[in-house]
Amino acid sequence: MSTTPSRLRLLHITDPHLHADTEGLIHGVVSFDTFRAVIEQAMLDAQSPDVIIATGDLVHDETLAGYQLFQSLLAPLNTPVLCIPGNHDTPTIMSSVLNAAPFQVNGSFQAHGWLLIMLNSFIDGNVAGYLSSAELMRLSSTLHENPSMPTLVCLHHHPLPMGSRWLDGIALQNPQELFEIIDAAPQVRGILWGHVHQASDRQRNGIRLISTPSTCSQFRPDCDDFTIDNRPPGFRWLDLQADGTIHSEVIWLD
Ligand SMILES: [Fe+2]
Repeated sequence: MSTTPSRLRLLHITDPHLHADTEGLIHGVVSFDTFRAVIEQAMLDAQSPDVIIATGDLVHDETLAGYQLFQSLLAPLNTPVLCIPGNHDTPTIMSSVLNAAPFQVNGSFQAHGWLLIMLNSFIDGNVAGYLSSAELMRLSSTLHENPSMPTLVCLHHHPLPMGSRWLDGIALQNPQELFEIIDAAPQVRGILWGHVHQASDRQRNGIRLISTPSTCSQFRPDCDDFTIDNRPPGFRWLDLQADGTIHSEVIWLD
């Protein structure tokens, strides 16, 4: 009898936008308080996560201290935390703080029969995202090496339009190059992102395409101009099943 758990449980947290100052605001929200509240609520769940995915904009003010706050809240959980940078991050500072277990920046990760590929779409000095040829080659070769392992691909920027003109102007700039590789790799079961500060869950060619609310403030869906939503902080559970299906649920804080 196999002792391998039948599914991989992921906690997806994104866009915490922390500051060095724990009183720092994002659109009127104290982002440290809401981040801590999200983590506390997630840890009250009867089923704890096997892996935590953090898809960027970890820090808003480009400070070492912001990353140290992120590190200090998550390190005690003793759960792998897979991180990628967003447009607000400073990758060198981020990597210098999150440089030891349980943290990992970029790369990939295998657990419970699933492969998680973390893609870096950060461009220095640009709010939009781009996957470099090196990053695309890494994706392609990692998929070739694991042709039968169900796979989730994670990045900061959205590879599909969200239906908001202002947000879609700062999307991933080369999604066609990503989808060329994904379309040739039927083991990819989903793509997961942050950046858009709103929940979405769609399908394309049988693949789940999912975004998750920010742990601080949200953007109102379907608005052509920048508009703050009054929805609360949120996070997402993803249960990656042994048969390659994904069960997922967004949790909004009370
Ligand atoms: Fe963000």
